[in-house]
Amino acid sequence: MPDKDYQLKVLISREEIKNTVVRLAKEIKKDYRGKQPLLIGILKGSFVFMADLTRQLDLPMEIDFIKLSSYGAATKSSGKVKVVQGLKTPIKGRDVLVIEDIVDTGLTISFLLNYLRRKKPASLKLCVLTDKPSHRKTSVSIDYLGFTLPDKFIVGYGLDLNEKFRNLPDICVLEDDESS
Ligand code: IMP
Repeated sequence: MPDKDYQLKVLISREEIKNTVVRLAKEIKKDYRGKQPLLIGILKGSFVFMADLTRQLDLPMEIDFIKLSSYGAATKSSGKVKVVQGLKTPIKGRDVLVIEDIVDTGLTISFLLNYLRRKKPASLKLCVLTDKPSHRKTSVSIDYLGFTLPDKFIVGYGLDLNEKFRNLPDICVLEDDESS
């Protein structure tokens, strides 16, 4: 099937992202001084954010990833979440910080936090780059937040549409030609 034509408009520039990542890293460093947190990135979307954030964090830390089912090929949440690829690191007794690229309905992250909580970490916190609160279906408490965004579908900086656009260095709004 041929690709549709999309218009990409920069919503958050790479400079703004960088400044925000630096700000988040400062907040995290302050709270985790003297600890050795385990950062858990949610694949695939958080891989760019995780890479930039961890390089701003001069803390002793470990990193792991978990892969959850998500939207699949559509742009609306199915509400069904499952672990597709699990953690390699035991988290019992660890200070766990979850790194997520985006929270929309909140269903994905709520599922993950409940899943992790059952494994009895010493602490469990959440760092989210972008939050779209207008479609929330369950309440989510975000400890470290980058940007609050309007209800637009965004791509870039790790975020995709059908596996495309993850490599864009800016966060862009995606509008198909008929929609604007
Ligand atoms: P939630 O369960 O509705 O909060 O959705 C979270 C997941 O949906 C994220 O991890 C993303 O994979 C995906 N998602 C939600 N909104 C967007 C978006 O605007 N662009 C790209 N992916 C999105």
